[in-house]
Amino acid sequence: MHDDTRRRLMLASAAALALPPLVARAQGTKLRLGLMLPYTGTYAQLGVAIENGLKLAVAQAGGKLGGREVEFVRVDDESDPAKATDNVNRLVTRDKVDVLIGSVHSGVVMAMVKVARETDTLLIIPNAGAGAATGALCAPNIFRTSFSNWQPAYPLGKVMIERGHRTAVFISWKYAAGEEAAAGFKEGFTAAGGKIVKELYLPFPNVEFQALLTQIASLKPDAVSCFFSGAGAVKFVKDYAAAGLKDKIPLYGVGFLTEGVLHAQGDDAEGLLTTLHYADSLDNPRNKAFRAAYTKASNNMEPDVFAVQGYDTGLLLAQALDKVKGDLSNRAAVVAALENAVVDSPRGPWKMSRAHNPIQDIYLRRAEKGVNKVVGVAWKALEDPARGCKL
Ligand code: PHB
Repeated sequence: MHDDTRRRLMLASAAALALPPLVARAQGTKLRLGLMLPYTGTYAQLGVAIENGLKLAVAQAGGKLGGREVEFVRVDDESDPAKATDNVNRLVTRDKVDVLIGSVHSGVVMAMVKVARETDTLLIIPNAGAGAATGALCAPNIFRTSFSNWQPAYPLGKVMIERGHRTAVFISWKYAAGEEAAAGFKEGFTAAGGKIVKELYLPFPNVEFQALLTQIASLKPDAVSCFFSGAGAVKFVKDYAAAGLKDKIPLYGVGFLTEGVLHAQGDDAEGLLTTLHYADSLDNPRNKAFRAAYTKASNNMEPDVFAVQGYDTGLLLAQALDKVKGDLSNRAAVVAALENAVVDSPRGPWKMSRAHNPIQDIYLRRAEKGVNKVVGVAWKALEDPARGCKL
């Protein structure tokens, strides 16, 4: 049983006459959402977009979830795995949040997964793609509203083969997200008949790309594939062009490469092809309404995939909390509501897989004048294989 619930039950039985019933009190108190996101560092902008999206969904639900007012407790995790255990323990033990929401970085989320499993706290992951969270370490109380690192990378292999590229170099940061994206890409590319000639890595969040770009120039693959995101993605795209490679060796990427950063990348991003579970130009009324509302609510910021994932976290919580009328103490009912939710997302409607990761379409997009435009669906209803998950 959840510590908080146990304490409330003890209090309730000790002072049964003096206190209103447990459920009524639980519903009357504010719902505490613990946001553990990066607000500084290379992924700072991603954390802000997730929070903005989440807050938009809560505002659209009337500022309440399941009838309860919402209180946000925030911690800046700096995308630093070394500080992650302390940060998440603070939210659970000191701040006693009802739901943990985070994070962006796969290394940070692994600490959240561990603490969520140990304390049986509900965890919703609005970005980090670490495979284990919905794989070997999957759990009834852990859900993801974003993607697994494998998921948007796997279809990119087939896309590149179809465009005539038989050899590729993959380049990224050396940590779980980069390595798992590389593995997903490699699986798709080799299954379609391609060959990876080299994987190149630099430590996260370094942006000294020069030596690696020199290696790419001498390896002369048919094309390059990559995983970078946030401020580092701006620098990589600009350096790739400045090294004179853009017109010689076509650059592809897992779609985060051009999310939230297209204006900063300018002409150097023009024409880049990427795969992702969202595209700015998706032509459905839900996406259009979301984009207009987000821009209005967020000081004219443009939404991106991270904003969508934050928004969907709010939509998912709203549905589940409505089902249980705000009473999170009935864990089985909460889990069932989260498992059975259909999220009416700007990316298109999606459902949870058995392992609690979205089953979703992966789009092929082209960057055109500051917009990630849909070229087509690279893979329909793609489900992460969830290797090792025993749910
Ligand atoms: C991750 O670390 O899992 C991660 C970070 C940034 C992204 C995607 C995945 O854009």
